Amino acid sequence: MDIEEVKERAGPREFSPKDDLPEEYRKAATRMLQFHANSEIMGAYLERPFIRKAPSLERKMAFSAKVQDEIGHGQLLYRAAESLGVKTREEMLDELAEGKGKFLNCFHYPMESWVETPMIAFFVDGAAMRRQATLKRSSWEPYAHAMDKICFEEGFHVKHGESILAELMSGSRKEQRLTQAAFEEWWPRILQFFGPTDDKSTHHDFAAEVGLKTMTNDELRQAFLNSYMPKAEKYGLEIPDEPRIREEDGRYVVVDDDLDWDEFFQIAKNEYEPGRGQINERAAAREAVAWVRDVLDSQEQAAGGQAPAAAD
Ligand SMILES: [Fe+2]
Ligand SMILES: [Fe+2]
Repeated sequence: MDIEEVKERAGPREFSPKDDLPEEYRKAATRMLQFHANSEIMGAYLERPFIRKAPSLERKMAFSAKVQDEIGHGQLLYRAAESLGVKTREEMLDELAEGKGKFLNCFHYPMESWVETPMIAFFVDGAAMRRQATLKRSSWEPYAHAMDKICFEEGFHVKHGESILAELMSGSRKEQRLTQAAFEEWWPRILQFFGPTDDKSTHHDFAAEVGLKTMTNDELRQAFLNSYMPKAEKYGLEIPDEPRIREEDGRYVVVDDDLDWDEFFQIAKNEYEPGRGQINERAAAREAVAWVRDVLDSQEQAAGGQAPAAAD
């Protein structure tokens, strides 16, 4: 199939591993899936310490389940990426540990305090839900298929984050004040979640033409703001004055100049210094379990190439 035919046929779940797809499509889909898978893993690593820090048994159990879900999402997506035949799962995991793999801007920032948890678990997961729901119609069938399970679980994640936010915002004055401060710190990053405005985005056009994406960054940001600005206010959070958000013809428009795009693009290249800690931790975690991979590989060799059941 050539690229023109791909563009002509592009539609929800149109292409699968049995199709002979041009390299251009396979590479673009791999880049998108790898970014998504990496983000799931890095998000899980950011939240993992909160299994310990959670203030009650229920919250610990919920955080533990959520972190496992996110790691599972990453693994599913690496498999969906692998089926494009460009990179193996191992290669993608190595790239992530080596600091070459790209992932979401929000997961480059350190998260230290409990009051910050709903910023990820409610707002970032809520933003992720917006994007992921549209990916159920992606043209790469294994991607869309993975989204069925992922979106189902993300729905719970958002409820979990919302429950923490509701609890904090109906807690002591101090909790409310600290939660508001965390919101002010995270809000610009959350607004940047969907990436630059459409005229600055480099990969959208092709991904849209071949049906990998179905909505633009601006459309997604718009849908997110319509739904989450009222939710933030409902729980008593005040939307910061900056970045400015104007209402024009019933639409929210974020004043792009109020956001730090230099920092965003530095993050996009994995060059944001505070975020290096996250990547180094990931590298250390991969290194720490290298012996498990070695044992499984040697078992596989001993079994004549048959992978042991626990290899994944
Ligand atoms: Fe996830
Ligand atoms: Fe999630």
